[in-house]
Amino acid sequence: MAPLDSSDSWLPQIVEALKAGELVALPTETVYGLAGNALCPDTVRKIFEVKGRPFIDPLIVHVHDLEDVDKLAQVPPLLKTLAKHFWPGPLTLILKKREIVPDLVTAGLDTVAIRIPKHPIMRQVLKATNLPLAAPSANPFGYLSPTQASHVTAMLGNKVKHVVDGGPCDIGLESTILDFSDPNNPIVLRPGPISAEIISKAIDIPVRTKELPASESSQAQLAPGLLKHHYSPTTPLFLFPHNSSPEIKNNNHIAVVFNKRPQSQNLKNTFWLSESGDLKEIAHNLFDTLHRLDKQSFHAIYLEKVENSEIGIAINNRLERARHDN
Ligand code: TXA
Ligand code: MG
Repeated sequence: MAPLDSSDSWLPQIVEALKAGELVALPTETVYGLAGNALCPDTVRKIFEVKGRPFIDPLIVHVHDLEDVDKLAQVPPLLKTLAKHFWPGPLTLILKKREIVPDLVTAGLDTVAIRIPKHPIMRQVLKATNLPLAAPSANPFGYLSPTQASHVTAMLGNKVKHVVDGGPCDIGLESTILDFSDPNNPIVLRPGPISAEIISKAIDIPVRTKELPASESSQAQLAPGLLKHHYSPTTPLFLFPHNSSPEIKNNNHIAVVFNKRPQSQNLKNTFWLSESGDLKEIAHNLFDTLHRLDKQSFHAIYLEKVENSEIGIAINNRLERARHDN
């Protein structure tokens, strides 16, 4: 579908498709999602099939407002505080699920991941369908998340009929996932745009962060949300430390990606994620840059890690999972 104009003539056919159990790729403020009716097991199965995603890896359910959350999950009192601070927005909460949520969505767990997204198109669709929408990132399992409609079309265009183009995603990195199934012991499972520190301040409780598993053991593979190797381009990705240059003799076939525009360029095939090294801009451009470089015939991509603060923690988390030698 072409980029949207200000009219909403696209909406009825998208609503109809979702109500009929079809899948639709939709923009969110984080990344594009592959959405379908979360209450329909056949539709949910299609999401897994189209992505090539193992059924042990549960999905995030997107809803329009707090009343919808209450229909799907048990709502602890502190959730209202979290919602007031961070919803609509890039925070996913793991909550104790209610019966109505199909086991396929949650991979048989007794918890469900829920998010109230902010993107106006996603919100319009949620409101008009009045359905909870299961939506993982709209990429083949393990590959880079899409931050533009063209990424979705290139990766899944032959499998997904409806791709709604909302332009580039504002944030460009997936939501923070907070395990809130025990509200006294909140744990960030996936760092994201909203840091553990900010969440902790909002609810006045310490918030831990789950560490990356040390090795790619079968145990780690089975733990939902903790799959170690993820978000990878096909071209091997190597990382070099923040504020340094990679040690490469000849980079004719190697792309080198810095945080910010380098002052002197003694390497060829040099790219940068932000003019000034701004972390939000780096997050916004990261996946798009990797998608574009992956289409070229580089033998390897060398990319600079970022400073480990704010959204930089989430960026480094994705890079660690994506790196070739992890
Ligand atoms: O920003 C986002 O979160 C995007 C947009 C589309 O909303 N979605 C997204 O979904 O990144 P996905 O499926 O690519 O990642 C969801 C993660 C998976 O790692 C999954 O294992 C974890 O959420 N997850 C889902 N339900 C869970 C649960 N009940 N317990 C633990 N982890 C869960
Ligand atoms: Mg994903």
